[in-house]
Amino acid sequence: MAQEKELNQLKTHFLSMASHEFRTPLTTIQLSNDLLKRYGGKMGDEKRAEECAVIERAVNRMTLLLNDVLMIAKGETGKVELNRERVNILELCQQVVDTYKLLSDGTHTVSITFSGDFVPILVDPKLLHHVFSNLLSNAIKYSPKGGTIAVQVKQTPDRVLWQITDQGMGIPADELPHLFEVFHRAHNAASIQGTGLGLSIVKQFVELHGGTITVNSVENQGTTFLITLPVIQES
Ligand SMILES: Nc1ncnc2c1ncn2[C@@H]1O[C@H](COP(=O)(O)OP(=O)(O)OP(=O)(O)O)[C@@H](O)[C@H]1O
Ligand SMILES: [Mg+2]
Repeated sequence: MAQEKELNQLKTHFLSMASHEFRTPLTTIQLSNDLLKRYGGKMGDEKRAEECAVIERAVNRMTLLLNDVLMIAKGETGKVELNRERVNILELCQQVVDTYKLLSDGTHTVSITFSGDFVPILVDPKLLHHVFSNLLSNAIKYSPKGGTIAVQVKQTPDRVLWQITDQGMGIPADELPHLFEVFHRAHNAASIQGTGLGLSIVKQFVELHGGTITVNSVENQGTTFLITLPVIQES
């Protein structure tokens, strides 16, 4: 009974969150599309490209959000499958950072350093891509423009350590124990858009790999997330 009530609360919360989160990019798309339709002919090439980029970013945002929602739905029913293949972690991490450099509009500096020997290991590249992009997007979202985000990746014979540090708003100490719960958002992040889904999915995917995720944060100074994955080389 209590479980049913909790599930209903989650559903209600989810519906109000999802409609709000989807409405914002939809409004953006509608506005830019209107502008293009009415004035597209008279706009310079640069202005037109700018409006298209606005639409593209809004569509990307909705796609990511929808992916998260689908992942949560799958996760709840235990249907997320781990498909391990041989992956070079260095290449995967570089890809994630390159994609985000394109998406983030150059507002932040992202530095990435590698150490160790990156022999291919058996992981699920799709799930790990999702994990790394989520943490990077948080680091960007919760730190001021012009900030630096440092990603460090290390591979030893038995572990991969992936660490991301930002110089952003940080997380209040009393929020840390709840950070990975579905829909949980820290109170100092209320003015920034988000669903609170990202980290719960990240944790689930890391644990599917047999890994761990930990967080260290000081409010108004910055945050570090550390992921540790066991190295598996043979199937
Ligand atoms: N790098 C960070 N710096 C400061 N706070 C963070 C950081 N990463 C996460 N948080 C806090 O943890 C909460 C949960 O993060 P999570 O990624 O799950 O959700 P979200 O970012 O709010 O929404 P979504 O990822 O779905 O857009 C955030 O709302 C924010 O309060
Ligand atoms: Mg997030």
